[in-house]
Amino acid sequence: MKTDINAKELRSMWLKFFADRGHTVISSASLIPDNDPTVLFTTAGMHPLVPYLLGEKHPGGKRLTDVQKCVRTGDIDDVGDPSHCTFFEMLGNWSLGDYFKKEMIPWSYEFLTDEKYLGIDPDRLAVTVFEGDEDCPRDEESAALWEKAGIKKENIFYLPKEHNWWGPAGVTGPCGSDSEMFIDTGKPKCSPTCSPACHCGKYLEIWNDVFMQFNKTADGKYEPLKQKNVDTGMGLERTLATLQGKKSVYETDVFTPIIAEIERISGAKYGSDEETTKAMRIIADHIRTSVFMMGDEKGISPSNVDQGYILRRLLRRAIRFAKKLNIGVGELAKVAQVVVDEYADVYTELATNNARIIEQLDIEEQRFEKTLAAGEKEFEKVAHYLVGDTLSGKAAFKLYDTYGFPIEMTVELAAEKGLKVNVDDFKKAFAEHQAKSHEGAEQKFKGGLADHTEATARLHTATHLLHRALKTVLHDENANQKGSNITEERLRFDFTFPRALTPEEIKQVEDLVNEAIKADVEITCEEMTVDEAKAQGAVGLFTAKYGEKVKVYTMGKYSKEICGGPHAKRTGELGHFKIIKEQSSSAGVRRIKAILEY
Ligand code: SER
Repeated sequence: MKTDINAKELRSMWLKFFADRGHTVISSASLIPDNDPTVLFTTAGMHPLVPYLLGEKHPGGKRLTDVQKCVRTGDIDDVGDPSHCTFFEMLGNWSLGDYFKKEMIPWSYEFLTDEKYLGIDPDRLAVTVFEGDEDCPRDEESAALWEKAGIKKENIFYLPKEHNWWGPAGVTGPCGSDSEMFIDTGKPKCSPTCSPACHCGKYLEIWNDVFMQFNKTADGKYEPLKQKNVDTGMGLERTLATLQGKKSVYETDVFTPIIAEIERISGAKYGSDEETTKAMRIIADHIRTSVFMMGDEKGISPSNVDQGYILRRLLRRAIRFAKKLNIGVGELAKVAQVVVDEYADVYTELATNNARIIEQLDIEEQRFEKTLAAGEKEFEKVAHYLVGDTLSGKAAFKLYDTYGFPIEMTVELAAEKGLKVNVDDFKKAFAEHQAKSHEGAEQKFKGGLADHTEATARLHTATHLLHRALKTVLHDENANQKGSNITEERLRFDFTFPRALTPEEIKQVEDLVNEAIKADVEITCEEMTVDEAKAQGAVGLFTAKYGEKVKVYTMGKYSKEICGGPHAKRTGELGHFKIIKEQSSSAGVRRIKAILEY
């Protein structure tokens, strides 16, 4: 087994293995999903590929491989233990309606066991397959393929949906039964029925092959997909820890330089006691995730809503734990810099946005310092006069609203004093406030296409025409898309622009879009390199690597944009375009709501 493999080697070994088997290497997508309005962050390697798993053609072909940056903040409170991270990299490969189980399982076996690759002893591998239910049959085929490849029959386990089903990444989307691969640590079985399902620590998961054949709909049904896909994912950090024989991901080479810097600026030692170790893991994890958020190609900034709120929560929690280790204000920037330096060769956006990352961190730290002092005083006062042991939701809301205390922090501070917080009441107060300040669910910006119906595709096409028309009418090529949210009924489009549009401008934009619709031009899609797209004046985020292919949608002379689709076939399919609202979305960002009338 390759026990001395490091992160760099594992990434390149993975990409080369699949490139050698006809896969196109694609770059990691942004941490903010384009195509999923149901979640805030990219949570898995397959997430940015959803349109292609649903049948859109990918410019890289039918076989793809990548290393995708992912964020999962569901278990943020578990960070500090040996295995939880809010950010991770996922090594992935995909078949978009191309190969299936009989190719994928032998490849998985080869990558895991061959001396040229991970060199794991086959007898130390255990695999799981789907036991079958009313949605999908028992996966005898995968079990037979594993056995044929060299896995012992007793190391193949049949498990139910709860364990052997993956997806969708959000609420709806592609999913299917899977086959997971585990390293057997050699520990004795915890019981006669011990299996990879029991999480006793005997089996450690390293890879997951998903056989994606279904689309889960909003009403919870599983519809067969047009094509059979394979989606596999190997968590980089977790696999490194397993191979390197480390008890914790924080002890692998992805974290050691970050932890070393925290040790240096704090003067404390990782591993010296439980509390110090936990604080260092939290700081290392949260700063690493924050760096990737602030340095993302879509640049997240700390704020009180959505992605910005998660970022603020991570930064503020890191700052609080830094204080516990006597790390001075301004010192965390040094930890952030180590993260940038460690990752910039793989994620070049971190180098490009280096100054922005450090600046945002400093600003948030200073802002938090100011509110923290006042807030802690307020907290002490409230706690002092408290009757009983539960802080009211109203008091917690005041701490949030006036002092910028994330609720989780109030809960933590309270717990330190043996107090509880009425979180339900806090949530009520929070919801009322959201509604009042027009920042409620309706306004919450999640981005992307709600589904892939023709009606939604037509509004998506209208969004492209709108984007171009805005740039033209406002004489501003920097009036760039900040996000979109498109359903069958309407489109929402956010773009950077410093002021409200005049009624004349709104009319001109509508006229320009309607002119394009009347012209009934054909909508064509071409594949080209990012540089060619740029040279042709296509609109879009130019984040893909040099030479990498992208899809460019052209609508006559009216629009040219890098995009994954889907779109209408001709502009004439669209009804009459009408803007129903133009308003501010956030500082420097405007929001347009529009419909198509038939
Ligand atoms: N989507 C699957 C996972 O996240 C495999 O890539 O595990």
